[in-house]
Amino acid sequence: MSDPIPLSMPDITDDEVRLVVDTLRSGRLSIGPQLEQFERLVAARAGRRHGVGVNSGTSGLHLALLALGIGPGDEVITPAFSFVASANCIEYVGAKPVFVDCDPRTLNMRAEDVEKKITEKTRAIIGVEVFGNPKGMIQLAALSTKYEIPMIEDACEGLGGSWRKDPIGKFGRIAVFGFYPNKQITTGEGGMIVTDDDRIADLCRSMRNQGRASANAERGAGLGSWLTHERLGYNYRLSELQAALGVAQMRRLNDLIHVRQRIADHYTRRLSGNADLIMPTIDDDVDMSWFVYVVRMSDQFSMEERDMIIEGMRRHEVGASNYFPPIPLQPYYARKYGYQPGDFPVAESVSQRTIALPFFPGLTEREIDLVAQTLELMITRTTFARRG
Ligand SMILES: Cc1ncc(COP(=O)(O)O)c(C=O)c1O
Repeated sequence: MSDPIPLSMPDITDDEVRLVVDTLRSGRLSIGPQLEQFERLVAARAGRRHGVGVNSGTSGLHLALLALGIGPGDEVITPAFSFVASANCIEYVGAKPVFVDCDPRTLNMRAEDVEKKITEKTRAIIGVEVFGNPKGMIQLAALSTKYEIPMIEDACEGLGGSWRKDPIGKFGRIAVFGFYPNKQITTGEGGMIVTDDDRIADLCRSMRNQGRASANAERGAGLGSWLTHERLGYNYRLSELQAALGVAQMRRLNDLIHVRQRIADHYTRRLSGNADLIMPTIDDDVDMSWFVYVVRMSDQFSMEERDMIIEGMRRHEVGASNYFPPIPLQPYYARKYGYQPGDFPVAESVSQRTIALPFFPGLTEREIDLVAQTLELMITRTTFARRG
């Protein structure tokens, strides 16, 4: 019997532990040098002038919409196939999410599909690099320029990747990264807004810190500035401990991306001959920073069969998951807007067949082979069961 193989696992070394402990001992636990450095590192990686650290990717998206002045009566275009936060942020500001189905190959929105949903009420487009794939983002950026509708890049799954050397985080007027523990780098919980726009950066900085006015207020300098609230703000701050973890992780980002690529390559080599599986399609002009490794069952498999395969893998202590149910069919959205099965056929068909496999830097080649073997065994069993 071998050890259980989890779906995901952060990669933390002594460097991270040391920097977090040093920060803990420094006495400065919020808004300090670690946050500043982390912001500089992430902004530089995305080729942007400003980074504003926040306590989650979701908070970053919320502030991005607020900074663009989006509110009730406005529409925001967003993918049907993404994590729910890509739509929830629109609900937070009282605007209406307008969902767009995905491309079956890249799983991202296609510019021509987005264009059809633009109305006089559209105030932003949220472009997501699904599973870390930036394919098609340049077309979304071009559409955003053509219609003068800003794009918010929900880059929560893509830190460190690029399309023809343009880094993820560079395509939107504002981009947001996420650092949940399954991401390329983690701060435990955390996120980062990046932009070249001074005004947007200042606004986000203020809003994440209870609406305090200036950089001076952030540092507690200037009489009264800590207790002056210029606008409605939030406590979306990222602590110094989280930022220190982020700094140490950012120093290892290239290595982490490299290892994740090696693991993805091994899965691809091991599984790509299997006619029951649709493998991730990554074009040559993309440099992936792999977030997850997700295969799809071919069309003859039903959702129930896919679920049986996942359950079978879990019974064998191999992590596996379905990524993601389409957002419009989540109970909240289906109830509120009346969406029905069949409204987003590609996202539905894809989501009924996805299987996310264990994916994290510590995964060994032996474990990858074991995952692949277990998956193939469960597929064979399911196919036999179908034949009765
Ligand atoms: C596409 C996408 N958007 C937003 C988020 C939200 O990030 P967080 O979990 O940090 O709030 C995530 C991550 O989980 C995500 O995958």
